[in-house]
Amino acid sequence: NEIKLFSPATVANVACGFDVLGFCLDSVGDEMVIRKTDKKGIFITKIDGGFNLPFEAELNVAGVSALAMYNALKPNCGFEIEINKKIKPGSGIGSSAASAVGSVFGMNELLGKPCNKTQLTEFAIKGEALASKCEHADNLAPAMFGGFTLVKSLSPLEILQIPTPNDLYATIIHPQIEVKTSEARAILPKDVALSKAVTQWANFGSLIHALHTSDFELIQRSLNDVIVEPYRSQLIPHYNEVKKEILKVGALGAGISGSGPSIFSLSKGLENAKNVANAMKNTYSKTGIDFDIHVSKIN
Ligand code: HSE
Repeated sequence: NEIKLFSPATVANVACGFDVLGFCLDSVGDEMVIRKTDKKGIFITKIDGGFNLPFEAELNVAGVSALAMYNALKPNCGFEIEINKKIKPGSGIGSSAASAVGSVFGMNELLGKPCNKTQLTEFAIKGEALASKCEHADNLAPAMFGGFTLVKSLSPLEILQIPTPNDLYATIIHPQIEVKTSEARAILPKDVALSKAVTQWANFGSLIHALHTSDFELIQRSLNDVIVEPYRSQLIPHYNEVKKEILKVGALGAGISGSGPSIFSLSKGLENAKNVANAMKNTYSKTGIDFDIHVSKIN
């Protein structure tokens, strides 16, 4: 009647795949408990982590995704949701997506798995939309499926799982400032020059090919974002400096994680990923801004 689960953080966009590509981190995530109750409805009963998030189900991302599923399935029971929020909201590593995915995943298990992962992601999109004020699934899909995912289309929802080369690691630095996804979207241009679009989709296609063929050198040459990074990097203090320093110590590439302020980089092997973590730490220690660093194997 109760399930405890770990709902992972994720990196969306991955430089050239704005709104479609993402990958899952196994070292950081929300912890949640979902419990079946006789009383009908969705009840958020506990939120730990100190972030002052709303308990009303219809105002909470985990609650909104749970309600979307609940209203569609109309089960003969209710659910309590406890959230131990380990991913800071506004950090750029899929905080809202983790909570939105966790509640529907847990409910599905307790109901005997009536829905597949794509259907669960559809419900979770409703929760995610509450946080970012637009529907996107590039954090939800990797949180739900693991590894790298590509959101081929939102309507109808189609998610492709992309293979991960062995020995691929992510290093993430999270400067302790908040960037709201809705604001980071609002500063983006509505139109894109065709020449930029061509560069971006060449890089994106190459990155997908490189992930399929474990071609680390091609991963390195594909991790570029000529469309979104020029705008959003201005919201992240010392972004260019961090990127320059981590490329010197062997990162394959780097970019803004989701809508920021976190910065992600990919490396071949744990040792390189740790060197990147050190370079991030050395660079950011001088800025006076607090930060967290995570190293995670991508599975
Ligand atoms: N693709 C979304 C964006 C992810 O960049 O706005 C938000 O985490």
